[in-house]
Amino acid sequence: MAIERTLSIIKPDAVAKNVIGQIYSRFEGAGLKIVASRMTQLSRADAEGFYAAHKERGFFKDLVDFMVSGPVMIQVLEGENAVLAHRDLMGATDPKKAEKGTIRADFAESIDANAVHGSDAVEAAAVEIAYFFPALNVYSR
Ligand code: PPS
Repeated sequence: MAIERTLSIIKPDAVAKNVIGQIYSRFEGAGLKIVASRMTQLSRADAEGFYAAHKERGFFKDLVDFMVSGPVMIQVLEGENAVLAHRDLMGATDPKKAEKGTIRADFAESIDANAVHGSDAVEAAAVEIAYFFPALNVYSR
């Protein structure tokens, strides 16, 4: 089993619902360690840079508007197969399709406000971790 790191963001809707602690408990319950964290209000430049791969998509402006609409909690999670383990905890992008008991099924309202972000691959995780935590060693160890 590979020890990996992944980037997780608790989005403005979930921060506003006051469920950061409940979501952190799920990470810890699944054996993921929070090795860095920071609450911040993203600027438009931060959000546009982070989601640059999606800039041609029809939902890009809505996604950026939403991500700057309130504070977010950003963390680096570490553990066995952390990227996949975290994505399993999150559930499908669209909460209506997310499996019962996943974070999105339990806390998200819609595909536009879907509570959490998680890196989709180890390579993406390294880039995303460096984006928000440039001083952290980004690769698995
Ligand atoms: S893809 O095709 O797999 O790259 O796309 P996906 O992972 O589904 O979505 C990429 C990010 O865009 C968000 N998203 C949306 N935001 C607003 N409106 C709509 N319709 C929409 N569809 C997808 C989705 O939540 C992903 O953001 P993150 O932060 O990675 O969850």
